[in-house]
Amino acid sequence: MSDRIDSPVIEQQLAHRSVRRFLDVPVTDAQLGRIVSAAQRASTSSNLQAWTVVAIHDADRKRRISQAIGDHHYVEHAPVLLVWLADFARNAELIRSRGAEPATLGLIENTVLGSVDVGIAAQNALLAAESLGLGGLFIGGIRNDPAAVSAELELPQNVFPVVGMALGVPDPAEGTGLKPRLPLSAVLHREAYDPEAWRDGTEQYEENYREYFAGQGVESRSWARAVSGRLGTVEGMHGRHTMRESLRAQGFHSE
Ligand SMILES: Cc1cc2nc3c(=O)[nH]c(=O)nc-3n(C[C@H](O)[C@H](O)[C@H](O)COP(=O)(O)O)c2cc1C
Repeated sequence: MSDRIDSPVIEQQLAHRSVRRFLDVPVTDAQLGRIVSAAQRASTSSNLQAWTVVAIHDADRKRRISQAIGDHHYVEHAPVLLVWLADFARNAELIRSRGAEPATLGLIENTVLGSVDVGIAAQNALLAAESLGLGGLFIGGIRNDPAAVSAELELPQNVFPVVGMALGVPDPAEGTGLKPRLPLSAVLHREAYDPEAWRDGTEQYEENYREYFAGQGVESRSWARAVSGRLGTVEGMHGRHTMRESLRAQGFHSE
């Protein structure tokens, strides 16, 4: 039994920050292959491996995607843009090749399964990239217009763009630090869910959050206000409030 509480992996995880500005240096093909191999080693539901990632280097394609989802500069300027896809097309074909029908693909469980598999694989990839001295960020904005992204990437039925990821060598001039998180007690509950656990420490968190952004030259930021803006209004969804229709258009009926 080990009572260690530290490791190089944990150090790497605790050093994570999203990177939105990159040096004009390519991510090599060898690096990309290694990063996606690390993603493939992640656990995957029932070993279905229900995901695919598309790596985009073409400047025009990155620009078109950026414009479609609302002008995200890190999409356009990332040395490589990855689009992580929930992918049941491969498994559906496999089932059909055996003379059967993929009868459960319309169930919401499989929409959730594909999204979970993508999230786990993609986080493995980002951590692997960070361990190589690269940086990047997740881009949920890729879901602002799933139809445009699906058309751009020529996605077949049963494939859905879940999240994007920009990767590259971080530009040190960006200067972001570690964005504070809620206290551990808010997210680690013991034995059963504690509906009051978030209250303690949230005031202190507001303070840490405000100070972090003030240090970045942005005054008067509030986490409570940010949460309200993101989840409290349909506008905060940036077009993603029609996700059910977007999923259905790609064959994810989610019943
Ligand atoms: C699924 C997911 C989607 C995200 N989408 C975006 C995005 O579209 N644009 C963006 O600037 N950051 C995006 N982020 C990055 C978060 O804003 C960031 O992780 C969070 O603010 C914490 O900051 P940190 O990663 O620097 O610690 C996303 C993160 C995740 C996990």
